[in-house]
Amino acid sequence: MNRLAVELPGLSLKNPIMPASGCFGFGAEYAKFYDISQLGAIMVKAATLEPRDGNPTPRVAETPSGMLNAIGLQNPGIEEIMSDKLPALERFDVPIIANVAGYTIDDYTSVCERISQAPNVKAIELNISCPNVKQGGITFGTDKDVAADLTYRVKQIANVPVYVKLSPNVTDIVPIAKEVEAAGADGLSMINTLLGMRIDLKTRQPILANQTGGLSGPAIKPVAIRMIKQVSEVVNIPIIGMGGVYTVDDVLEMYMAGASAVAVGTANFTDPLICPKLIEGLPQRMDELGIESLAKLIQEVKEAR
Ligand SMILES: Cc1cc2nc3c(=O)[nH]c(=O)nc-3n(C[C@H](O)[C@H](O)[C@H](O)COP(=O)(O)O)c2cc1C
Repeated sequence: MNRLAVELPGLSLKNPIMPASGCFGFGAEYAKFYDISQLGAIMVKAATLEPRDGNPTPRVAETPSGMLNAIGLQNPGIEEIMSDKLPALERFDVPIIANVAGYTIDDYTSVCERISQAPNVKAIELNISCPNVKQGGITFGTDKDVAADLTYRVKQIANVPVYVKLSPNVTDIVPIAKEVEAAGADGLSMINTLLGMRIDLKTRQPILANQTGGLSGPAIKPVAIRMIKQVSEVVNIPIIGMGGVYTVDDVLEMYMAGASAVAVGTANFTDPLICPKLIEGLPQRMDELGIESLAKLIQEVKEAR
């Protein structure tokens, strides 16, 4: 029996560890460091209908225990992603979760329709939570009716399961999670970055050209744990947890909050080998904590609610 294996809609994961969207590009750079077929899955960078250059620089700033970014969904657009980026990942034995963003509902549905036809795309991650774009992105993720409408429309055309990526930049995440589930989402992923800002003392201006950016890394883990726990108690669809995961203990904490798989974002920038290290380290820590398998742990956490 594979103790790390997890079954999710559309995804038979050999282990629960996957790089989070935007922190792994389209995989090619990391494939030089290790065999990326070891990963449970890969959440690739957001895809939009047209290519996007992203926001002006500077668009990254360090913070204690994390970073701020305002990349602004830079990507080569759906055509190049379909013709180059996704085919380049076909030689690896790893399911791809395609992160999709748009300005309008039609943008989202067009990209989802196209991208779900790529043979290695096994699920869509609907990015309704990017804090760094003025149009689309977060506006879809902060209103429960808009989020539900988008989810419903995408579900009509996508031929792979749809995971909706929730924003933590809301007063109460629970009603949004519930509406998205009711609209047909197959799963949730959470959390995206928390809106933040830094100011340069010499220029007295915000460090990021976009002024604000998304905070990620260890600083946001407690927020992620709180939100995953709150949401897992009211929905029946699986959650892919993310936000500040750096260690095997962080992975297991996400499970105990109610996650069924775990994505690793900012940690990839600190240590490009972090994902294979987590996969290797999990069984020993599970032994120490008396966890027989992750599938069993998911069940136990569910029953304890
Ligand atoms: C540089 C950078 C780029 C990101 N780009 C995307 C993106 O394209 N789509 C998306 O849904 N999330 C994006 N995210 C958010 C991450 O996928 C993740 O939800 C967030 O960083 C929290 O996880 P972490 O603390 O492990 O980084 C990005 C994050 C960073 C740091």
